[in-house]
Amino acid sequence: MTILVTGSAGFIGANFVLDWLGGTDESVVSLDKLTYAGNRQNLASLDGDSRHHFVHGDIADQALVSALLAQHQPRAVLNFAAESHVDRSILGPEEFIQTNIVGTFRLLESVKAYWQQLPAERAGTFRFLHVSTDEVYGSLGAADAAFTEQHQYEPNSPYSASKAASDHLVRAYHHTYGLPVLTTNCSNNYGPYHFPEKLIPLVIHNALAGKELPIYGDGQQVRDWLYVTDHCSAIRRVLADGKLGETYNVGGWNEKANLDVVKTLCAILDQEQPRADGRSYAEQIAFVKDRPGHDRRYAIDAGKLERELGWKPAETFETGIRKTVRWYLDHQAWVAHITSGAYREWMSKQYQ
Ligand code: NAD
Ligand code: TYD
Repeated sequence: MTILVTGSAGFIGANFVLDWLGGTDESVVSLDKLTYAGNRQNLASLDGDSRHHFVHGDIADQALVSALLAQHQPRAVLNFAAESHVDRSILGPEEFIQTNIVGTFRLLESVKAYWQQLPAERAGTFRFLHVSTDEVYGSLGAADAAFTEQHQYEPNSPYSASKAASDHLVRAYHHTYGLPVLTTNCSNNYGPYHFPEKLIPLVIHNALAGKELPIYGDGQQVRDWLYVTDHCSAIRRVLADGKLGETYNVGGWNEKANLDVVKTLCAILDQEQPRADGRSYAEQIAFVKDRPGHDRRYAIDAGKLERELGWKPAETFETGIRKTVRWYLDHQAWVAHITSGAYREWMSKQYQ
């Protein structure tokens, strides 16, 4: 038995593959285009492990994906591959349309053709699991109830619009062709291997480098944070027992304003690696220009996943964020490796 995981060299994909092979001997074929966000090093601990087969390629390459499916005969395909950073989607949406929409479409075409020729018994147990985001639901007011699976789609950024489009395509392939699909819509993840363009790893990185900690606007935007391995366990639950064609919201019941997240990071860093001058990292906080169209609040109601599949997060924000800071402190070589040329260009373009 084997599964095919796309986007496996990125933040969540890599955590998923490492977690999966930590808990089972079922092999993984991983496919990743190795964009700026994909890092082969994230999976280096699996080098030489015969259960893992890494392929460098694009989900939109139907010839390649079809050949991989025919060769490895996976019982499931899990799609993590995407362009994932909202700010990049604002500066340059094209790649988001290409990978998140066209890429998902081409992947669905390859998977449909593979699934249609499987013997009935294997076709019946095959699954296509699409990993998506809570951002497709748009923005909540302070007093609004958290997003349920029934909330209407109101994406506001090119990123969330492209993910919404991919979710609709996945739904349509189930409704029209009967493809056995599952979709998860998860809140903001954090943890190891998170690319330091996103808030939490960026703040840790900048703090240690003595740079400003940029807070967009007033810093009162709210996100619902989930430790990445909890996201991985939710995906495993949905893959095992999710109802075909259904969507599942995944969240940590951890709503936090950005400014509070950054202050928490500063307080942990003050304990774990105090500044040489004995002052707090919080002194590096700087309020900068807001993100255009910045969604004010996301909050996930993960009640369906708990009621129907018995999933709950294992980490609280307090335990998860401390582990995360520790991981970055212990993996400075990883950070140094990815914060080289192209990363510096992005930082100066975005924060000029
Ligand atoms: P990421 O940007 O860290 O990783 C994405 C990976 O996909 C990279 O390794 C990249 O090389 C690869 N990739 C990009 N285009 C590709 C293509 N055309 N073909 C093959 N590989 C390609 O993103 P992430 O944070 O790990 O997110 C993974 C998935 O989870 C995405 O679909 C994202 O929308 C979703 N998601 C992310 C979060 C979050 O907080 N990060 C929350 C909910 C859902
Ligand atoms: P981010 O990590 O980019 O995730 P998303 O936009 O998908 O939620 O951002 C999390 C929040 O932090 C979001 O409200 C934007 C804000 N933010 C800052 O205030 N400063 C920053 O430098 C970054 C990258 C994000």
